[in-house]
Amino acid sequence: MILVGGQGTRLRPLTSTIPKPVVQLVDRPFMTFMLEWLRGHGIEDVIMSCGFLADSVRDVLGDGSALGIRLRFVEEPEPLGTAGALKLAEPMLEERFLMLNGDVLTDIDLTSQIAQHERTGARATLALVPVEDPSAYGVVILEPDGSVRDFVEKPAPGELDSKLISAGAYVLEREILDLVAPERNVSIEREVWPRLVGDGLYGFACESYWLDIGTPARYLQGTFDIIQGNVQSGVRDRLGSDWLAIDEGAEVRGRAIPPALIERGVRVAEGALIGSLVVLGEDVTIGVGSVVERAVILKGTEIGAGCELRDCIVAADCFVGAGSKITGGAVLGEGVSIGADNVITRGARIFPGVQVPDGAIAF
Ligand code: GDD
Ligand code: MG
Repeated sequence: MILVGGQGTRLRPLTSTIPKPVVQLVDRPFMTFMLEWLRGHGIEDVIMSCGFLADSVRDVLGDGSALGIRLRFVEEPEPLGTAGALKLAEPMLEERFLMLNGDVLTDIDLTSQIAQHERTGARATLALVPVEDPSAYGVVILEPDGSVRDFVEKPAPGELDSKLISAGAYVLEREILDLVAPERNVSIEREVWPRLVGDGLYGFACESYWLDIGTPARYLQGTFDIIQGNVQSGVRDRLGSDWLAIDEGAEVRGRAIPPALIERGVRVAEGALIGSLVVLGEDVTIGVGSVVERAVILKGTEIGAGCELRDCIVAADCFVGAGSKITGGAVLGEGVSIGADNVITRGARIFPGVQVPDGAIAF
């Protein structure tokens, strides 16, 4: 069961037109990474619990057969919270199942987590990873036997001395749903985990790759980690031993520096420099002498001559006029048009369809 009920507001404008689960990450919809990870651990039956824009999630992912998975969707009439959403799907669940937060990129060893769950006889086993700043997460202290001594969701500063957080991947026994009232908004983190402390709540601590992709900076980090092979994923095979994928039918006249992934139909003009850490989606064009570094440019976008794109995300079907600079964590939403000689930087977010005239913005 994967929870994807959130609106993904912090990833706007990428999520203004496309729900977060199916936002393109490197070369596939984000959710495909999760489904491939699950499939790799033998999971063949997945339920997605959706709220916001459920139909477009379904349109992109279909019935899962392309990935060897049976994919079903449950739509909430209104957000029911993480436990409420689970309760709604109770009749579809088996005795033991996995529950996943739908916004993390990870390669946690679920097979070992399930084995530990069976060994300890837990009612719930939470995957745990260490992070530098745990304040935005569910924080855990473990007993030596792996049971949870303390769980606090988003603790106040100094409330809990631990860097171990819940990674949003759980092995659960269906009977814990007896603790959840139906048709109510219930948070599993605030109302269920605390009640299971000392009563069957265990942690599976690991050091696997883990990233919540919920902000533009993290989206870029996740992209770079995928094309550098820091996280196991299906993209690795495409990159080969030189960490450079240039699809058939792409035409690169300038220079490409790995790691980089350049999809079919891309045209890079003379003197342009692509990389390192760049993804160019299908049919992107890059003009003469432009520089693209640590950036993602999604399909159909056209970049003029003499542009500089660094540390930025440009969504599909945008236009960037000659001599413009897009840097400093800026994000252009779908269909944005930036005229010549503009500077877009300092985390600026330009919303879908916006048109900026020539020379309109400088810093
Ligand atoms: N269906 C449904 N309905 N899904 C929901 C709802 C809901 O009402 N509310 C949240 N979700 C989904 C979100 O889309 C997301 O995939 C997941 O549940 C977790 O919700 P977030 O809103 O992203 O929570 P968080 O990131 O602040 O905290 C959670 O994740 C952390 C790890 O990233 C908690 O589980 C923390 O304990 C955990 O450390
Ligand atoms: Mg989250």
